[in-house]
Amino acid sequence: MKLNYPGKVYLNGNWINSKDAKVSVFDRGFLFGDGIYEVIPFYKGKAFLAKEHLDRLKYSLKEVELNCDISNFDSLILKAIEMAELNEEDGAIYIQVTRGMAPRTHSFPENYKATILMYAYKTDLSGFQNQFSDVLVSSDIRWHRCDIKSVSLMANILANTEAKKAGFAENIMIRDGFFTEGSHSSLFFVKDDIVYTHPNSPFILPGITRNLLIKLCKENNIEIVEKALPVSELNEVTEVFITGTTTQITAIKNLHFPDKDIKIGNEIGSITRKLQHLFSSEVKKQLGITIL
Ligand code: PDD
Repeated sequence: MKLNYPGKVYLNGNWINSKDAKVSVFDRGFLFGDGIYEVIPFYKGKAFLAKEHLDRLKYSLKEVELNCDISNFDSLILKAIEMAELNEEDGAIYIQVTRGMAPRTHSFPENYKATILMYAYKTDLSGFQNQFSDVLVSSDIRWHRCDIKSVSLMANILANTEAKKAGFAENIMIRDGFFTEGSHSSLFFVKDDIVYTHPNSPFILPGITRNLLIKLCKENNIEIVEKALPVSELNEVTEVFITGTTTQITAIKNLHFPDKDIKIGNEIGSITRKLQHLFSSEVKKQLGITIL
């Protein structure tokens, strides 16, 4: 899919043409990556799990002591979809809050005005159930606060680019012998018909799609354990899938390690399939929209 810039963006209180949207070179987001972001999906113009995403935004802002009033963000999200004329389309809303402009010092000033950017863009959210993807496996070199959705994403960028260059869908990462998550997705394994995913901790992002899947497992008698999978147990795994706002639920076929390739299966596993259907039923229940 060809990537385009959005026509209009919300910047610090105004909706403006994106080509006129300018931020200072002294913005701490530009100088330090001192900022927080969120990505919220929408189906046929209706935002999905918006409250959960805004709660996580609040959490991230609090954890880095970034003061910003986000009380109007729920209505701004709707406006973003309208401004992009995407009321009948699938897409996502990008939100970014940085600590604003200040003379460069590592420590942040007491007083600052946050820079707020928001826009909606179209993206193809259909057909995730038909994908059976390969992923690269690499070591997790990220910081120890991956629970914060920081715009400082250098390690994720390098990991994802390495996977893309090799022709794979995602890069999943290992820290201290345990799988953590993908460069922009949460990670699940099925072993003995039990679904495993890394527990919420500073080593993973508390994925909104991940949290929904855990709830769906619990409601539908699918055993789910929030426990990190050691790499040594990969040979017992029968299904692997990744989840996320734009990834939704994507089944994984092969894992490519630097020194070996591991095939998970010849077809998408039954638990992954069931969860994909439960996910689309949830979208139907919450938004009245059929996605699968
Ligand atoms: N990424 N883990 C990481 C490191 C992520 O960046 C993301 C999302 C997820 C999945 O979270 P959620 O289900 O809340 O989307 C897990 C977004 C989409 C991004 O960076 O564009």
